[in-house]
Amino acid sequence: MNRLDGKTAFITGGARGQGRAIAEKFAREGANIIVCDIDGPIEHIKYPLATAADLKETAASVERIGRGVVAEIADVRDQEQIDRVVGAGLDKFGHIDVVVANAGVLDNKPFWEMTDSEWNVVTDICLNGVWRTVKAVAPHMMERMRGSVILTSSTNGQEGDAGNMSYVAAKHGVIGVMKSAALALGQYNIRVNTLLPGPVDTLINDNPGTRDRITGKTGATREDYLAACRNWHVLRGRSALAPEAVSDGAIWLASDESRHVTGLEMLIDAGHRLLPGLNFNNDFVDEEASF
Ligand SMILES: NC(=O)c1ccc[n+]([C@@H]2O[C@H](COP(=O)([O-])OP(=O)(O)OC[C@H]3O[C@@H](n4cnc5c(N)ncnc54)[C@H](O)[C@@H]3O)[C@@H](O)[C@H]2O)c1
Repeated sequence: MNRLDGKTAFITGGARGQGRAIAEKFAREGANIIVCDIDGPIEHIKYPLATAADLKETAASVERIGRGVVAEIADVRDQEQIDRVVGAGLDKFGHIDVVVANAGVLDNKPFWEMTDSEWNVVTDICLNGVWRTVKAVAPHMMERMRGSVILTSSTNGQEGDAGNMSYVAAKHGVIGVMKSAALALGQYNIRVNTLLPGPVDTLINDNPGTRDRITGKTGATREDYLAACRNWHVLRGRSALAPEAVSDGAIWLASDESRHVTGLEMLIDAGHRLLPGLNFNNDFVDEEASF
């Protein structure tokens, strides 16, 4: 008996990273998988995004595990594209029990230098895309009087980041979407929860722009970024977490083991949010200062 036997899960941004780990974990636990992602670059996003080949690999992996899969290129900035994927999934599997709104991007730039369109691309994917994804499945789940909705926020959904405002604002917004959807959908027996990962070792982090922001130095290497992530956690010896750290949380939210849980901000951060507010980086010494 697996934890998702007979269920179908829809995962956005599932071509790689956490989305793929979630697809594989859910498939191993018995679920058929509907997955979507984009193919190639998005204007203003400075690191490579997923490709059709990545999406194909996720689909092949689910099939190797022995589950059915619908894998489609679709952009969460476009409601019609999401609806098309949901329709294709329903045609094949007949029902959707779990949705994971996982697709996300970030931009590493001081907010005072950001243009409207740079701001909008991050919030349109990370926040509006989450709303569109829930909107696409909610009526189906309401009709069936069941469902588990899982929204990917971040520790940046609870705390600020000086070099990353559009992402932080969007991830805070995801928690607002979760709380409101949980209230609206509870009467239909639909649960809505959020995942709040700390740093996870995927390409949203391991790229030149994000490595520099995380380490605070220009030209940071992968080793520099992994070393900086060690300062992040309470639990011993952790650096950037494996994507499976997040899928291990997602499976509980997806399964009936969490059947009485809605409205949760599930931190998967090795204790980061427990840390006291000491700023070890503030080592500036200003001899002339009068304060
Ligand atoms: N890696 C981290 O440290 C971390 C921490 C907290 C939260 N998150 C969040 O976790 C989620 C997964 O990120 P990841 O770490 O696997 O990084 P990732 O970059 O490997 O995965 C993000 C996926 O979203 C896809 N995507 C981007 N824009 C899209 C769009 N418009 N439509 C459809 N798909 C789109 C990308 O192509 C990619 O496959 C994101 O929401 C991210 O913000 C990541």
